[in-house]
Amino acid sequence: MSDSIRIVGLEKSFGTQKVLQGVDLELPLGQITVVIGRSGTGKSVLLKTLMGLMRPDGGSILIGGQDITKLPDRELLRVRNRFGMVFQHAALFDSMTVFDNVAFPLREHDRKMKEDEVKRRVDAALADVGLAQAGHKWVHELSGGMRKRAAVARALVRKPEYLLYDEPTTGLDPIMTAHVDELIRSAQDHTEGLTSLIISHDMHATMRIADKVAMLHEGRIIHEGTPEDFQTCDHPVVRQFVDGKLEGPIQV
Ligand SMILES: Nc1ncnc2c1ncn2[C@@H]1O[C@H](COP(=O)(O)OP(=O)(O)OP(=O)(O)O)[C@@H](O)[C@H]1O
Ligand SMILES: [Mg+2]
Repeated sequence: MSDSIRIVGLEKSFGTQKVLQGVDLELPLGQITVVIGRSGTGKSVLLKTLMGLMRPDGGSILIGGQDITKLPDRELLRVRNRFGMVFQHAALFDSMTVFDNVAFPLREHDRKMKEDEVKRRVDAALADVGLAQAGHKWVHELSGGMRKRAAVARALVRKPEYLLYDEPTTGLDPIMTAHVDELIRSAQDHTEGLTSLIISHDMHATMRIADKVAMLHEGRIIHEGTPEDFQTCDHPVVRQFVDGKLEGPIQV
């Protein structure tokens, strides 16, 4: 059985730039939580600290009551093994086939696994994302949507308890976006107990797939609730974002 994740007062700065300034967020077990927020607000930083790829400056990340921010590197690695991540730019290895990309986490972390078991798991993961016929292809031969799907297969292949997606549909056309949304939803529905966190700019997708939505703004979660709550929330910053009237000045 998985443990719930609770993020409390999380802080992260780069030099004098304060990015996360006390983020509080709970990821309910077995549900999809979507974090929204403008570009540059620290959404990717939040995911990286959550997965132990980046150390926060303050606050805690409690998994089953244990604060993972205080763990030594070796133990943190064990925690990281419970996560799957779909990076913002798919981050596949260009020099490998789709099959080898998806097999990579198994070969890397489950070294004793027999090659026929690796093949069985990879074939199943590829079939789950509709890429059963594409295992032999090279990454450069894939469309953008196929890359995203291969990245999802790679994140799922070790059957993680927690699945993190950073902007899974950015840059895809509306049809492909709908496919990837369906994929996320079906990965969720077919994986018992899976807890997912998605970073998204896409309000339509967010409203369709989220069980819970949280908005990150100026280093904190300023509002959280169901998709329906976001439709009726009258916080001006939330309204602006949800209605898509103004993305605000571009922050670089
Ligand atoms: N390793 C780093 N070193 C220094 N600054 C960083 C680092 N990573 C992120 N930042 C800064 O932290 C801020 C938040 O970055 P982050 O990538 O989390 O934004 P984001 O909300 O994911 O934006 P987007 O929606 O554009 O992906 C940015 O100003 C960024 O320049
Ligand atoms: Mg980002």
